[in-house]
Order: sequence, then structure tokens, then C-alpha cells
Amino acid sequence: APAPQQPVLLEVKDLSFGYTKDRTTLQNISFSVRKGEMVSIVGRNGAGKSTLSKLICGFEAPGSGSILLDGRDITGDTIRQRAGRIGYVMQNPNQMISKTMIFDEVALGLVQSGLGPDEVRAKVEDTLKICGLYPFRNWPVSALSFGQKKRVTIASVLALGPDVIILDEPTAGQDFRHYTEIMEFLRGLNRQGVTVLMITHDMHLMLEYTPRALVFSDGRLIADRSAAGVLCDPALIERAALKETSLFTLANRCGIAPPEAFVQRFIDFDREVREHGC
Ligand SMILES: Nc1ncnc2c1ncn2[C@@H]1O[C@H](COP(=O)(O)OP(=O)(O)OP(=O)(O)O)[C@@H](O)[C@H]1O
Ligand SMILES: [Mg+2]
Repeated sequence: APAPQQPVLLEVKDLSFGYTKDRTTLQNISFSVRKGEMVSIVGRNGAGKSTLSKLICGFEAPGSGSILLDGRDITGDTIRQRAGRIGYVMQNPNQMISKTMIFDEVALGLVQSGLGPDEVRAKVEDTLKICGLYPFRNWPVSALSFGQKKRVTIASVLALGPDVIILDEPTAGQDFRHYTEIMEFLRGLNRQGVTVLMITHDMHLMLEYTPRALVFSDGRLIADRSAAGVLCDPALIERAALKETSLFTLANRCGIAPPEAFVQRFIDFDREVREHGC
């Protein structure tokens, strides 16, 4: 049964931006995301996905348009003002980590926000427990694997208690076990109410974990619909240079209509089997 509709958390209205005056990187982007959603942002290299997240987090300022969080216009807010509510996890954890010890890394944002040492310790320890990193709290970051480092960067962002996190390629370079570990962890956070936006090139990830996808091409938002719907639309797949799912091919060859309903049922069933092992 579909979940009851939550209120809109993030709204992007008619956003345009160019790194230089003569070239538009994003053009008239509008969409909104409800509380508790998990949404993929997809599209070929250079489509403008990372640029969009930089605008939402305040690393770049839009040429025109606005960004609203909980109905309030945050377009003029600084990165720091937004950071408590919008977390951004970059693709490469090594570009985000600046401290030697795991505890200090996760504490950094809290210390900077002016919290006292006891409060910082309590919040960091709670977050490390949620992220499965508590046993490592006194370890140096350098002793961790790439996937564990990724989790440290997610923990640093989560410690600030954001309403929404944006992840750029959360599973790039991970093997299947770590991919599943990171994604199940994000799904768990999402179930606890954290809204998740995820940039990805992985169509299976999109299909398996995010019911909805925003498709970008050449700086425009060309589709906003169900992940299964996106992957069953050959014209859209070609325009956005995505990869068709083999489930779509299978549905067509077997004459199962509509194909997106089959794809969705397959994904749901596959998940059920993996979760309950039956
Ligand atoms: N700092 C910058 N200065 C100038 N142009 C930039 C800058 N960053 C990105 N661009 C350009 O803006 C466009 C969109 O880039 P962006 O990084 O947002 O794409 P993307 O969709 O995230 O691609 P990818 O999938 O490769 O990460 C590209 O043409 C890129 O070359
Ligand atoms: Mg990018």
C-alpha cells in the first residue's frame, strides 16, 4: 500500500546556473521532494547532477530561481547555515576527511557549531553506533577501507542531524557486499525519516532502492517519474544515455504488459526473498 503523502521538504523552483556567463549548466530546474523520500538523480557525465547538489548545499549560487526547505527560501543562506539541515556526501571520501582520528572527524562539524564537549561526545557516540563504527572510534581513519571511510563521511554529516542527505555516487568502486552494506544502511536511515537524494550511474541501484528518479540531460530535468518507468522508456533511455534494464527486455520478449509493472514486481519480490530468505 502506498505510504500516506508527507509534506514537501525540499523545493527547487526554476533554477538556472552557469559556471561562466556564456554557458548555462542548469536550465529552469523545478522539482520537489517530500519528507522521507529516497530519490535517484541520474543522467550522463556532465549532465549537471553534481552542480545541482552544489547549488542545493550552497557551494554555488544560482543565476536565477530559488530553493526552499520546509517552505522557507534558503537561496541566500550560507553553506554553514544549510549544513545542519542538508548533508552532502562527496563521491570520494578522501576529499572530505580532514582529521586523523575517526572520533575527531565525526565530531568536527559539532565542535564548529559551538557545542560543549559532553554534548559533542554524546552525539558522536550515538552516530558512530548508528553507522556501525563505534568499535573503531579510537582508530585512525587511515586504517579503514574505502567503504568504511565512506561511512565515516556519512557519519560526519549525520551527526549534525540533517533532514536530507545528498550522496554523490554512494557506491562507486564498491564490491557487491559493500554496495549492499552501504545501501542497506542508507535504507535504514531513510526508514528512520531521513530524506535521501542520491546521484548514481548504477541503474540497478536506482531501480532497487529508489522508487523515484530525476533524469537530467544537458542541464535540463527531462523526466521525473518512477525508476521502473524510466527504465522502460527506450526514448528516454537513449536521450539520457542510460542503460535499459534486462527486466524490460524480458517483459517485452514474454509479452508481459505493462513492462514497468513487471519490473516493479520483480524488484519487490527479489527484495522480499533476500530479506526473508524464502
Ligand atoms: N567548477 C567548474 N567550472 C566550470 N565548469 C564546470 C565546473 N564543474 C562542472 N563544470 C561543467 O558543468 C557541466 C556539468 O557538470 P557536473 O559536474 O554537474 O556534471 P555531472 O552530471 O555531475 O557529471 P558526472 O556524472 O561526470 O559526475 C559539465 O559540462 C562540466 O564540465
Ligand atoms: Mg558529478
